[in-house]
Amino acid sequence: MKVAVIGPSGQLGSDLCKTLAHFDIVSLTHSDIEITDIQSVKRAFSRHHPDIVINTAAFVRVDDCETEPDKAFLINTLGARNVAVMAEEISAKLVHISTDYVFGGEPEARTTPYTEFDTPVPPNIYGKSKLAGEQFVRHLCRRHFIVRVSALFGTAGSSGKGGNFVETMIRLAKERHQLTVVNDQVFSPTYTKDLASKIAWLITTEYYGTFHITNKGTCSWYDFAREILRQAGLSTPVIPITSDQYPQKARRPRYSVLDNYHLRLLGADDMRPWQEALTHYLKSKGHIP
Ligand SMILES: NC(=O)c1ccc[n+]([C@@H]2O[C@H](COP(=O)([O-])OP(=O)(O)OC[C@H]3O[C@@H](n4cnc5c(N)ncnc54)[C@H](OP(=O)(O)O)[C@@H]3O)[C@@H](O)[C@H]2O)c1
Repeated sequence: MKVAVIGPSGQLGSDLCKTLAHFDIVSLTHSDIEITDIQSVKRAFSRHHPDIVINTAAFVRVDDCETEPDKAFLINTLGARNVAVMAEEISAKLVHISTDYVFGGEPEARTTPYTEFDTPVPPNIYGKSKLAGEQFVRHLCRRHFIVRVSALFGTAGSSGKGGNFVETMIRLAKERHQLTVVNDQVFSPTYTKDLASKIAWLITTEYYGTFHITNKGTCSWYDFAREILRQAGLSTPVIPITSDQYPQKARRPRYSVLDNYHLRLLGADDMRPWQEALTHYLKSKGHIP
């Protein structure tokens, strides 16, 4: 079984390549494929003829999407369309990675997790462009898995964002006397290694459709930061602030917790708590023994 991973050097892509090593992996780096160019996608797929395509490529800088909406829609929407069209043409299964930020744009913040059957209301351009990408995938590629994920942390760090929240908190805790972190955005942190393992199972099935895949449990960025520092043995104080005290270009959801409902219905939601996943991550990065 040949699996093409688009974005193999990214945070999720690199863990996918490791986890899927028992498959015949084709790594399609940005220099091998430009998803905004349909001919480039066609050439890459005709050369390798994968049975399964996993598209992790995206314009992931949420604030920059507000100032560069054309780039956001070009990569996150039309790029997703191009991959879906060409995956369908070669009858491949397609895994398309999406985001919790398709949710949370309602005027009243939710307090209960979103299932795959809730109607998305994106709060910002990033979420809109990713949702429009999902819609192309649904309509254009029959054998699709749309996988919504949230707040990723993985050993490679996000290439688009230049690292991840865990590393940023550890670095800042060593540089500063105290940290201030937003306490009114709630979500489920997700370890890319755990996510990659679940995707490795999903692609062997015919359970097509939309999936939420996150680690178990929820937290705010403040809670997440406190737990990172606690586990890393750093005593720098963390002060909670509100989103209004930390203005950003893109509006963030106050609550974007994803319920792994589809997995649960299949009896397949064995994702571990995010705190346990964090311990594994910190060990693998050498932050703790
Ligand atoms: N990071 C998060 O917290 C988070 C949260 C929710 C959802 N997601 C979704 O999860 C997925 C993976 O995120 P990640 O953190 O692993 O991202 P990442 O580290 O930035 O990796 C994205 C990869 O895609 C490649 N790429 C970007 N634009 C491309 C294009 N036009 N054509 C071909 N390749 C392109 C990048 O290559 P270059 O670096 O060489 O350009 C990079 O290898 C994305 O779909 C994202 O929307 C992420």
